[in-house]
Amino acid sequence: MTKILLRALAGEALPTPPIWMMRQAGRYLPEYRATRAQAGDFLSLCYNPDLAAEVTLQPIRRFGFDAAILFADILLIPQALGADLWFVTGEGPRLSTITDARQLGELKPADAIHDTLSPIYETIRILSRELPPETALIGFAGAPWTVATYMIAGRGTPDQGPAHAFKNADRVAFSALIDRITEATILYLSAQIDAGAEVVKIFDSWAGSLQGADFDDFALTPARRIIQALKQRHPNVPVIAFPREAGDRYIGFARATGADCVALDNSVSAEWAAEKVQGDGCVQGNLAPHHMVTGGDELIAEAQRITRAFRGRPHIFNLGHGITPDANPENVAAMIEAVRSA
Ligand code: CP3
Repeated sequence: MTKILLRALAGEALPTPPIWMMRQAGRYLPEYRATRAQAGDFLSLCYNPDLAAEVTLQPIRRFGFDAAILFADILLIPQALGADLWFVTGEGPRLSTITDARQLGELKPADAIHDTLSPIYETIRILSRELPPETALIGFAGAPWTVATYMIAGRGTPDQGPAHAFKNADRVAFSALIDRITEATILYLSAQIDAGAEVVKIFDSWAGSLQGADFDDFALTPARRIIQALKQRHPNVPVIAFPREAGDRYIGFARATGADCVALDNSVSAEWAAEKVQGDGCVQGNLAPHHMVTGGDELIAEAQRITRAFRGRPHIFNLGHGITPDANPENVAAMIEAVRSA
């Protein structure tokens, strides 16, 4: 029996959509906090295959999601390319910055990443053995633009200002950085698939700050290159693309990049996306994450409205962005029940 996530990604409309949740392994779960404490810190958890597999499995055991997502982070690629990376508790990631073309020359070649990332492949091998047979395993990476915004600024930024400044000052050097990340991402995702990932997702969390030709050059084109290269090597492995806050650029994104599914954030309505985006194939989304904090009748009504809006064509139920640490696990169970009874 084919796993229902894979059936939706193959284009099948199911009476009940497969369900999983961005950041489903995370701080809102007490068992996650306990395992992270055992590992010491977040990065030690990412690089410990037994513990990373354990936290990946925790939300599957608790909620019975239809998919597990590898526990890792999009910023492991910059680290594998030679950037310094650390996390400041309560604040977020910090990296060494890239402010000029000369520093790009100091990055390692794309094929050096496996030296750093081999524990991630081991996590996937463990998960392939330990996941229930009905649960699909999703691998992932950050999209080049989003990863570049962190590499240039050395941290998360509200408007991606430093990356826009670099791009506008030296488009050739900026494009070289995007190319390096693109090559590394192809190798990384391909190795994840070799290790047992059945689906891969490309997170472009900051795609919404790219406009016009910049969106084409730095969101759409890198996604297309990555997907084409993966399809050559692994023609049967579906790819989910998440150009977050792309707005009307969601229209045609799957066709232009070859993605099997486009993940929607919650700034677009399900009704709009059903009309404008779902015609191209499977869509994923898009309940606002705050419902996992606030719960109640609104959560039920919203989850059911979204499920019904996408019904009749392929859909994967998810949030529009990651669940937050202040979420209540009981609301997650209520969401699943609402979708399955819609
Ligand atoms: O459960 C899953 O979704 C899988 C694991 C996963 C994590 N990060 C774990 C994580 C995935 C897919 C990511 C992706 C990621 N990481 C993105 C893209 C998706 C998005 O949210 O837009 C981005 C931009 C990052 C970079 C990153 N990692 C930031 C900005 C932060 C700090 C913010 C925060 O929530 O603390 C992280 C840390 C991080 N990555 C945590 C987790 C569970 C929290 C770390 C902790 O335990 O303290």
